[in-house]
Amino acid sequence: MLRTHTCGELNMQNVGQKVTLCGWIQRVRTMGAMIFIDLRDRYGITQLTIRRFLNRDEFNEVNSLGREFVISATGIVAERSSKNPNIPTGDIEIIIESLASLEILNESKIPPFTIEDNTDGGEELRMKYRYLDLRRNVVRKNLELRHRMAILTRNYMNEQGFIEIETPVLIKSTPEGARDFVVPSRMNPGQFYALPQSPQTFKQLLMVAGFDRYFQIVKCFRDEDLRADRQPEFSQIDCEMSFVTQDDILATFEGLAKYLFMQEKGFAPGEFPRIEYDAAMREYGSDKPDIRFGMKLVELNETMKGNGFKVFDDAELVVGINAAGCAEYSRKQLDELTEWVKRPQVGASGLVYIRYGTDGTLKSSVDKFYSPDELKTIAGKFSAIPGDLMLIMAGKTEKTRTALGTLRLEMGKRLGLMDLTIFKPLWVVNFPLLEWDEASKRFYAKHHPFTSPVPQDIPLLETNPGAVRANAYDLVINGVEIGGGSIRIHNRDLQKKMFQVLGFTDELAQEQFGFLMNAFEYGAPPHGGIAFGFDRWCTIFGGGESIRDFMAFPKNNSGRDVMIDTPARISDEQLKELNIKLVNGEL
Ligand code: AMO
Repeated sequence: MLRTHTCGELNMQNVGQKVTLCGWIQRVRTMGAMIFIDLRDRYGITQLTIRRFLNRDEFNEVNSLGREFVISATGIVAERSSKNPNIPTGDIEIIIESLASLEILNESKIPPFTIEDNTDGGEELRMKYRYLDLRRNVVRKNLELRHRMAILTRNYMNEQGFIEIETPVLIKSTPEGARDFVVPSRMNPGQFYALPQSPQTFKQLLMVAGFDRYFQIVKCFRDEDLRADRQPEFSQIDCEMSFVTQDDILATFEGLAKYLFMQEKGFAPGEFPRIEYDAAMREYGSDKPDIRFGMKLVELNETMKGNGFKVFDDAELVVGINAAGCAEYSRKQLDELTEWVKRPQVGASGLVYIRYGTDGTLKSSVDKFYSPDELKTIAGKFSAIPGDLMLIMAGKTEKTRTALGTLRLEMGKRLGLMDLTIFKPLWVVNFPLLEWDEASKRFYAKHHPFTSPVPQDIPLLETNPGAVRANAYDLVINGVEIGGGSIRIHNRDLQKKMFQVLGFTDELAQEQFGFLMNAFEYGAPPHGGIAFGFDRWCTIFGGGESIRDFMAFPKNNSGRDVMIDTPARISDEQLKELNIKLVNGEL
């Protein structure tokens, strides 16, 4: 080894020892004839101190060592006279006795941004030089967390008898609902592989194969619009089990979640509440409710319709939230909030408010339709007290709930109710099995076509498919969908029925999923599973905002890797080999 110790481990117990450290120069400072070098590696920073022996040339030589030069330094550990309590090595310094003890292992160009916690580099620049960004503490810590989470997951799953099996990356399109990334096949002209959106069909085949408890930390690929919690390639903790019910799966993976909480955070939340999808939508306006705070949706059809206020009278649903303690909001703030909810991302048509003044008076933006007594009754519905502000929306049920759910989150944020140190996991269960698409006038599987219906809803497949609930569940933590899964259909007839409802002809079903349906004829066990968004889980544990910060080499919002500059064109020869023709430079 070129070093005896790392830059993060020396302390008072090492005083007097001769050590050699290697690392990157964080900064060089001078004080009179003395020079201090902060030497950094991934373990920490140690101060090198050079005094006395330097002549002017030597002084200049050391002083001109640039930021990010890679050096090796040998010296004696000494107690510092002015200690730095902010770093673990702050009690000591390394006394360098001669210039020969400092060796430049490699020089560095001046980095395009400072390698510090509060860097001066913008996002794009840091992504371009991601290897430098990764030298920063904050980013490095995120990857260390990710590593620990992966090891812990493997430990837990192994303890529980799961085995990790790798599934292929060059596959056929999987029915996960996003677009596929495809790869042309040179040996099969005109034919393409698809990259897996998840290993869904393979893990089901592994159940048919009798593996009974499978997991994999696996890359998945989805060509969809990107957001803070979405990347085109991301990782799942993908799991499947045989001979289980929904309860068994939830218990097993609540176990995993609690284990990760305990090991990583030092505490485990109590039993995770379970909420039906319908109730989640009704009470929180979201299928991934953030239950760190209440502010539940209050339905007001009976109380507020029929008073001559046309917007409410014509609406399918009148519904509101109580923003506790916000009665002092100024007119300007309320106007700003109204504009905010009207943005297309929220999609509300407007916002009605009722202020419960601290003097006990009720004042609303629709006073002429409601008497003071009626306003009092409405306030009662909200359990509002003086000082509160009620915010009300109206319109189509689903859309209005979602818009108000978004406003609820915004108010939660503005009121500081989304504490990053509090974790509130819950299971959302029994999602709708199908989703109607008005444009194509057909049902789509909300999860995927192998999800089984809740048993008592199976007859509804014939009569009212839209009302069928799925035997499916999501794990949600602090308003983030961390994972989702379902009990699968293992019966060929039911699977066939499902494909019919989804508008697949027998031929199309056979063409796309024949391999799975055929496998189901050879003794498919009852089975079910779940997959967790590994990047999302790390992000939430790390208190981050974007999953990008927890990936070593993420893509930007346009799906580009700006460091390696891809996607990129390929050569004409490559295209030719792949049988892809370009006409005037276009496909
Ligand atoms: P689903 O599509 O719900 O289920 O995905 C499981 C989890 O993966 C995460 N996730 C993502 N994370 C980052 N970027 C993305 N683009 C992205 N898309 C999804 C989410 C999500 O909850 N095969 C099924 C699972 C099963 O049924 O067992 C599946 O993939 O956290």
